[in-house]
Amino acid sequence: MNTALTNPASLVDKNRRGFLLRLSLGAAFFTVPGAFAEALIRTPAQTEGPFYPDHLPLDTDNDLLIINNGITPAVGEVTYISGRILDAQGEPLRNAVVEIWQCDHNGAYLHTKTGNAEKRDKNFQGFGRFVTGSTGEYLFRTIKPVPYPGRAPHIHFKIKRGSKELLTTQCYIKGHPGNEKDGVWKGLRDEKARAAVTVNFGPLPGTHAGELAAKFDVVLGLTPTA
Ligand SMILES: [Fe+2]
Repeated sequence: MNTALTNPASLVDKNRRGFLLRLSLGAAFFTVPGAFAEALIRTPAQTEGPFYPDHLPLDTDNDLLIINNGITPAVGEVTYISGRILDAQGEPLRNAVVEIWQCDHNGAYLHTKTGNAEKRDKNFQGFGRFVTGSTGEYLFRTIKPVPYPGRAPHIHFKIKRGSKELLTTQCYIKGHPGNEKDGVWKGLRDEKARAAVTVNFGPLPGTHAGELAAKFDVVLGLTPTA
């Protein structure tokens, strides 16, 4: 006769052990180095730079290729950049305002002091915003960033929630030779921090028009609030 099945005390004990086992599994999961730990490298802060728009475009949506109901898209390699905004625990951040800004294919920003102002692409929105939902995901359609004097190609990011600025950073193209010569990129001394902001721009699956996709997850230093 199996007393474990009839003795209530042993059942409790068994359950407790089961609970403890799950706890220790959980602890192991969170301390195992590897892909999961890698994903939680905090996205490093980087300089805002001098070209955050000093006047916002007429349109601030997440499609930087078309301004309002324009019919002529911006010139450049069409790129869908997406990712998730996560807190320090890896939980998605809802209601985060993701802002991006970048220069057009001629190296001109949406700023009165930009270089190449005379060549600015009037069809490029230059700036966009996206508010995350419960999954923390964001998406922009824009152009693949191009180099301009002194800088490797990059897209500026700013994450806000409410009136609070949570992070300002920049995202780079993995494998671009300009990265190694870029003072801001090199200013990130930690290799993992560099890797966290240097992402692949590859063909968008299922398309034949040469469109690109890039995935840039942002891990914030903040811990969840109750
Ligand atoms: Fe810049």
